[in-house]
Parts: sequence; structure tokens; C-alpha cells
Amino acid sequence: MSELIRYAVEDGVAVVTIENPPVNALSPGVPEGIQAAIERAEADPAACAVVVIGGGRTFIAGADIREFGKIVAGEKPRLSLYGFLERIEDCRKPVVMAIHGTALGGGLEVAMAGHYRVAAAGAQVGQPEVKLGIIPGAAGTQRLPRLCGVARAARMCALGEPVGAAEALEAGILDALIEGDLRAGAIAFAREAAGRPARKVRERQEKLAPADLQGLRAQVEKRMRGQRAPLAAIEAVEAAAKLIFAEGCAFEAKLFNECLFSSQSKALIHIFFGERIVGKVPGIDKDTPVANIAACAIVGAGTMGAGIATAYLNAGIPVALQEASPEALEAGAGRIRRNFESAVEKGRLTPDEAARRLSMLKPTLEWEGFGTADILVEAVYENLELKKQTFARLDTLAKPGAILATNTSTLDIDAIAGATGRPEQVIGHHFFSPAHVMRLLEIVRGRSTAAPVIATSMELAKRLKKVGVLVGNCRGFVGNRMFHEYMTQAVFLVEEGAAPEFVDAALEDWGMAMGPLAVGDLAGIDVGWRIRQEFKHLEQPGVRYPRAGDRLAELGRYGQKTGKGWYLYDADRRRQPDPEVAGIIEEAAREQGVARRNPGREEVLERTLLALVNEGARILEEGIALRAVDIDIIYVNGYGFPAWRGGPMKWAELEGLPGICERIRTLGWEPAPLLVERAGGAGRFDA
Ligand code: CAA
Repeated sequence: MSELIRYAVEDGVAVVTIENPPVNALSPGVPEGIQAAIERAEADPAACAVVVIGGGRTFIAGADIREFGKIVAGEKPRLSLYGFLERIEDCRKPVVMAIHGTALGGGLEVAMAGHYRVAAAGAQVGQPEVKLGIIPGAAGTQRLPRLCGVARAARMCALGEPVGAAEALEAGILDALIEGDLRAGAIAFAREAAGRPARKVRERQEKLAPADLQGLRAQVEKRMRGQRAPLAAIEAVEAAAKLIFAEGCAFEAKLFNECLFSSQSKALIHIFFGERIVGKVPGIDKDTPVANIAACAIVGAGTMGAGIATAYLNAGIPVALQEASPEALEAGAGRIRRNFESAVEKGRLTPDEAARRLSMLKPTLEWEGFGTADILVEAVYENLELKKQTFARLDTLAKPGAILATNTSTLDIDAIAGATGRPEQVIGHHFFSPAHVMRLLEIVRGRSTAAPVIATSMELAKRLKKVGVLVGNCRGFVGNRMFHEYMTQAVFLVEEGAAPEFVDAALEDWGMAMGPLAVGDLAGIDVGWRIRQEFKHLEQPGVRYPRAGDRLAELGRYGQKTGKGWYLYDADRRRQPDPEVAGIIEEAAREQGVARRNPGREEVLERTLLALVNEGARILEEGIALRAVDIDIIYVNGYGFPAWRGGPMKWAELEGLPGICERIRTLGWEPAPLLVERAGGAGRFDA
């Protein structure tokens, strides 16, 4: 037997254990090893049945995703597991698949080739391939509808969400749940099954009635706008009801390969690995001490402070929340209460659980709890002097070893750290609004930030259910520094004559979750305006700056919170164009002598997206981002950049870096030196 597969006979049953940690992916050698073990069991007079089970923490988590890149690059032949699965199904002794952890993708496909499936109560099964821009590629779209019906299978394959064991049992995907020891339970199940005739899933017909999938298609077109794989998955499942099994598999294979070789799949696989790579920081390893964060104290109970407090409470960490006035404190506590109420209304939390979490909040006017907290978080207004004063205060309150985190989105971490006597304990924790919802946490290291403070922050991000990305200190860090260039182009475009709704629609149709001007309204136009005031002294004569947003802010049009900004908002915060805005923009353009014309959709996309890429390349060159993939993860998780386009840097690579340089020059800009270098070299940013 190969090292990846163990074979043993227990109680007259052959037990085939897959040992390919950490997740038992179907790497080269695993399918071959399973097949050899099944053939050995078939010939083994000591075995009346077979159990296939995963060693370690899970059953098979799918095909080995690392292999896909090699296939697409032509270094490896195309994947085909069809014959291997039919060989399992054709085994003359019953094969029982024993599932714990996750049977995902190719894992569920292997499980469905068995004659029976049993599972531990906590197991999950699913076909999540669409999240990688592909569809099931080993008969998943053909066997799953034979077990659970066309409608449910189409849903599972198109949306990619796994289902729990109880639901899978009810749906017919599983045959039994095993309480207690899975291995022993599966062996007992297999012994009983040995006496009965086993059915092959591929021969089942009873659940194959066609279903109306229009509703699902509409849902996919809305929720997964622009993506090919979910619609291909529906087509493949539909084929199961129309074609014989072998033809259905051939149809699935054709769609699978189309998807695998697409840019969308390259982009989504890049994001899958990227989310895991960003956790790896050079110089920080498992030996770096990580502090236990058992209590948090937050100063500032505005939108950000309240959102951050909610995120901590959700992670089970008690929070002391400080404000200067009783009114502000009560308003902040009210925001947090509403966050929990809304979670209860949406069915995400029980009322009891919401009450339990809320009971861990201690509002204070007197800094109670700040001396015992393991982390003190500052979430006051974006003003350097105020932040420095706040940190000087926190320094007097915090116990030795406590982390002092600032939620600044643009300001100099070193200047803030300099207001304390312990700059090594100071770090940026830049949350994105709403802080309890958005997945991104930009972790900003200052000049003196100590390694354990970074390591603790990275661990804490996971506890807060965030993707933590470590970045360096500069104005706006990674996300907002790039966003500034992107937004500048959006405002220039409206000053030149494109309507705000035209600019936003161009980018939303392209795949951005929200256009830049609508984002401005959501975040508050006053925030950018205040920041621009802060940095006004750095403006240079003869350089064009975006002004239309400042005019809106001066008129009190702060965005959603005042009911009007770039748009007009109704009570449900739905936006609509505001004719008044056109006049304000025209006026701003006239003041600056900007000629009015009619920029088209292509120009909107070129200027905004290339501004992002060019600034991203500069950030990379300066070492502010560790890798290009870190920038992509920031943009996908914090700025609504479509994952299926890979993030700005991967998108540029997929477009081709030489062409990107040319397009930047066509706009009359200078491409970043790193961009030019990579365009002339490997054609990609990361090694
Ligand atoms: N292939 C290769 N590597 C994989 C992998 C896979 N299918 N699944 C996980 N890994 C790797 C991760 O990259 C990670 O590696 P590092 O430690 O080097 O960073 C390691 O395994 C552990 O993964 P996680 O950190 O994600 O562990 P987790 O416990 O948080 O989550 C999981 C486990 C739920 C299985 C999650 O890893 C996951 O969702 N994996 C992908 C599952 C999937 O999409 N399967 C379908 C594959 S496509 C397919 O199967 C096509 C087909 O039809 C034949």
C-alpha cells in the first residue's frame, strides 16, 4: 500500500484509511492508492465489505487545488477521476464511505461512488467548486441529483454552500448518522450491508425528474453576478435529467475544462490560496509569543468604535467602552444593541445569545476596565493631535504588556506611537465599516512594533473572524492609499462631465460591489474631506486635486448619514440621482477651469482601475505590502473588488503586464518602475 493509504481488516471488514494531511486532498497517489486498496479488499477473503475513512481531522476535502495550476500551464494532463470512481462503484463488496469533518468537491464525489455513506453528526458535505470558478469535475453534477433530486443538487452545485450531516441525511445524500466512534460505527454498518445487494448511485433514476431552475438562475445572476461557473453548474445538473450517465459525465467534463482554463478560475484559486498566504509573515513563526487577549477596552463609541466592540463581543471577548459624555456613550451602546437586534431579526443569533454577548459590554465614562484590558483600541476622530492625546492617556492607563491599537485609516502610526512611552506595543488595527461585518482587518506595523504584538494581532484577527493582512506604515496604508488614487479619478471623471451614476454603474457592471461615489456616500464624504484638510499643507501648486466632493461636504452633504451626498437617499437608504448635484459639480469644475466633455464607459474603467494597479505597484515596490497577493486580499475583502477578477494586481497580470504598462502610458501617466520591470520580466508580481 502507498504511504498515503492504510489498509487493515477489522471484524471482517476492510478499512481503507486516507492519510494525506492536512485535509486528505486527492493529490497524486491518493486516488490510485484508494483504487488499489478497493481491489485488494475485493480479493481479500478476510473482508466481506469495505469502509473508506479519512485519517486526521477530515474526510477528503476535494481535488488537490495546487494541481490545477499545473494542468492549466500544460505541465500535467487534464484531470479525470471518472474511471477511478466507477471502479469503486463496481466493487463486488459493499463500500461504505465514513465521513467526518468535510467531504467537499472531489471528496463528496468519491463518497457518492460508494454504495453507502455514513457520517459523524458534525460532518459537512458540499460541492463548493464554484468558489474556485469551476464546477464539480468527477461526476458530482451527475451523481448528486440521483441522490437528492435535481433542484437541491443544482442549488448545492451552483451556490457552493456545504450542508450539515442532518440535512444531508434528510436529503438522501447520507444513509445514516453515527453516534460515538465513527470508525466502529461504520464497520458495524458495513457488516450489516454485506448481507444486502448494493446499489450503484449511477444506476439510480428515481429522483431524476426535471425541475424548474429559473428561480435559482435568477438568484445566481444576482448574487454571483458576472460569474460563469454557477450557471455552468446548473446546466450540468440539468443534463443529468436529460442524458444517460456517461453522456452527462462527458457534458460535465467539457464544462469543467472550460471553467478550469478560464481567467475567473485562475482569479478565484489565487484568492483561495491568497487568504491563507496572508497569514504567513516573514520573521513571525510559531515560536513568536502570542498574548492571550481576554479583555478589550475601546475609546470612542461612534460608528467604528461600536462596530469594533460588536466584533469583539461576537468573539466572546468582554469590552469596556469609553466616551466623554453620557449622551455619546448611550448613543454608542445603542448602536451595539441595534447590531445585536438586527442579528436576531435575521435569525443569526438567538435572543438569549444576543443578551449574553451584550452583557459582556461595560460602558464607562471613567475609563473603568482600561487598566486590566489586554488590548486597548482607539476609535476616535481621524485627527492626529486628538489621536496623540488619546494615546498619551492610554499609556498612563494600560497595564504593562497591553497592546495599544489605533483604528486610524490614514495617519502615521509612528507619530501616534511616539505619544507613548512604549511604541513597541503600538500597532494599527484598521477595521472597515461596518466593522462587525466586513472581513478585512489591515494590521499596520509601525517602526518599533514588536513581533509578539504583530503575531498576537494576526491571531486575534482570526478570532474576530477577520482576514488579517499585515501592511507597512504610510499615508492610507495599502487600502486607502490605493483607494485615494481610484477615487481621485472617479471625481475627476464627474468634474469632466460623467454623471456620478454613470461612473458607478460602469464599475458595478464590471463587478465592483459598489461604485466609488456610492462608497463615498456610505463611508461619509466628510471623512475624506476632513482627511484632505489634515493634509492640505502638502498640496502643490499646479497640480489638479479633486474638489467636487469637498464642495458637497461644505454644503453638509455628507452622504447616507445626512440623506444626501453624491446621491439622494430615501428612508430605506436607496440611492437616486440628485439633479442638484450636477450643478454643484459643474460649479466645482468651472472654478478649476476643467473642460466639460462626455467621458465614456471604457475611459471610466481604464482610469479608475489602472490608477489602482499603478499605485498598488508602487506600494509593493516600497515594501508597504508584503506581496501582491496581500493587496488583492485587501481589495477583495475590504473594497468589494470582485474575487473572480482576482484583485487589482492579479487582474493586471491576467490582462498582461506589458499591455497594462502601455495602457497607463496612453493615459499620459508614468507606469510604476516595478510594473515596468515585471512587465519586461516574469509578467507577474509575486515569485
Ligand atoms: N487542495 C490543496 N490544498 C488544500 C485543499 C485542497 N483541496 N484544501 C485545503 N488545502 C490546504 C490549505 O491551502 C492549507 O494549506 P496551508 O496550511 O499550507 O496554508 C491547508 O490545506 C489547511 O486548509 P485550511 O487552512 O483552509 O484549513 P481549515 O480547517 O480552515 O479548512 C477546509 C479546511 C474546509 C477543507 C478548507 O481548506 C477548504 O474549504 N478547502 C477547499 C475545499 C474545496 O474547495 N474542495 C473542492 C476542490 S475542487 C474539486 O474537488 C474539483 C473536483 O470536482 C474534482
